[in-house]
Amino acid sequence: MNDDNVYLNGEFLPLQEARISVMDRGFLFGDSIYEVIPAYTGRLFRLPHHLERLNNSLHGIRMQNPMSDGEWSSMLERLVAQNPQQDQSVYLQVTRGAAGRRDHAIPDALDATVFAMAAPLYDPDPALARDGTSAITLDDIRWRLCNIKSTALLANVLLKQQAKDSGAIESILIRDGNAMEGAASNLFIVSAGELITPPKSNFLLPGITRDLILELAVKHGLTHSERNITEAELRSADEIWLTSSTKEIMPVTTLDHTQVGSGTPGPVYQQMSQLYADYKERIKQGLEQ
Ligand SMILES: Cc1ncc(COP(=O)(O)O)c(C=O)c1O
Repeated sequence: MNDDNVYLNGEFLPLQEARISVMDRGFLFGDSIYEVIPAYTGRLFRLPHHLERLNNSLHGIRMQNPMSDGEWSSMLERLVAQNPQQDQSVYLQVTRGAAGRRDHAIPDALDATVFAMAAPLYDPDPALARDGTSAITLDDIRWRLCNIKSTALLANVLLKQQAKDSGAIESILIRDGNAMEGAASNLFIVSAGELITPPKSNFLLPGITRDLILELAVKHGLTHSERNITEAELRSADEIWLTSSTKEIMPVTTLDHTQVGSGTPGPVYQQMSQLYADYKERIKQGLEQ
């Protein structure tokens, strides 16, 4: 954690000095949204995509964006510029703000609370690419607006902890017989040579990494489709991956304590992981965003 410089409501200040009201609706109701954006050697990864998703989340909770895209960019760039040599993960949160009294209904004219901080980001453990990781399946107990990147994450917290309790890294969530995504990641499978991910809907978060993987698949001619993945297809998949901005692509080689495919990260993962690494390298050189 970069301890001494976070952003709160227009000011850069030490983390220890950052304070919000206990009446903040983010605190009282989880009435707030967030983003997590990697920065490689000081360059924010796919910033326009993150700002677009931020706008969509705000729209989804009936909030105006308190800052323009230009204001977001300069604030976030200033935050990462403190530590340009180190890859970083930037967290930002916008809450509806603090009202005089606690009431579920949305009060008129509140000033949003805007907070952002940066923390060191490390490349994924090479053991992950070599051996893969394990996941379990769980019933998707979340609400029906999973496309909003809300900080009301209690279901995700409990689902992630259940995975941890059983020695797995992530839970893959099943809703109405279909595998949707992980508790904090998107889902891909490879089946009969085809790369498949569930279509965007209100039942999953439109991941920035997910979109990049699809773009790379198009660009490099990988057979792919966006369609539902049934629980049975998940269980018989040749490869399973979970993706997120900070974890990149995690190959799952054990599902519910059973081997996935050959039991090692598969050939399509190897190919995509290389394409992803090349893309990251181009970002570091300022050739891509
Ligand atoms: C529920 C959920 N799905 C998917 C993702 C992946 O999104 P992104 O690739 O934008 O990090 C996340 C990231 O935190 C998430 O929490």
